[in-house]
Amino acid sequence: MTFIIKSKHFIYKLLGVYENWTEIANRYYGEREKMYQQFFKNKKVLDVGCGRGEFLNTLMEKYGCKCTGLDASRNMIYHAIQNNSVHDYIIGDSASLPFVDDAVDVIHFSHVFHHLPFDIQEKVLKESKRVAKDVVMINDSVNWENGLKRFLATIFWKVTDGGYIYRTETEWKKFLENEDMIDYSLGSYLMRQCFFVIKANTEKDT
Ligand SMILES: C[S@@+](CC[C@H](N)C(=O)[O-])C[C@H]1O[C@@H](n2cnc3c(N)ncnc32)[C@H](O)[C@@H]1O
Repeated sequence: MTFIIKSKHFIYKLLGVYENWTEIANRYYGEREKMYQQFFKNKKVLDVGCGRGEFLNTLMEKYGCKCTGLDASRNMIYHAIQNNSVHDYIIGDSASLPFVDDAVDVIHFSHVFHHLPFDIQEKVLKESKRVAKDVVMINDSVNWENGLKRFLATIFWKVTDGGYIYRTETEWKKFLENEDMIDYSLGSYLMRQCFFVIKANTEKDT
């Protein structure tokens, strides 16, 4: 991870955009932090695609959350348990969450959607709104519409991350156009990120 961050900073300096990037990133992280303060404090949170579970520790230590981590990879869950066995962990699939309706307050996805096949992403979103009582948060990558930045960002992600799809801002907005959006922010410079806070519908399927 340190190597990825260092190479990102190196590329920004090379392109002469480091200062600009820092300002955009600060604005983005500031907005995200506001939402974290509003929705995480002392809540029950399910982190879907939790990986090695690092974010669960932040959720517990900084916001007093009661956390469950779910990941499709047995290996990831194994490492997450080694990192911190205080949380609950489940090996499972984001498209079929083993929870009753409104089981948690918040469902959080960090860099998971771009690893999901296109045709099941809507199902995953619907499923997470069923299980979350308050909101669903999506933190993910955003590609550029075209040009050199798109080319460089796609190469960077493919090499370091290997996801299926990196949506552009237009594509994210289209994907989420029917959702009840509480907050949206777009940040970082070359390898951009987005952050969406979506209201979990109060009307659940029967
Ligand atoms: C790029 S990692 C992100 C890990 C962590 N959320 C983070 O931000 O550091 C993506 C994670 O999503 C998990 N994942 C991929 N497809 C999944 C699915 N269908 N259901 C649950 N987890 C999935 C992967 O195993 C991996 O741990």
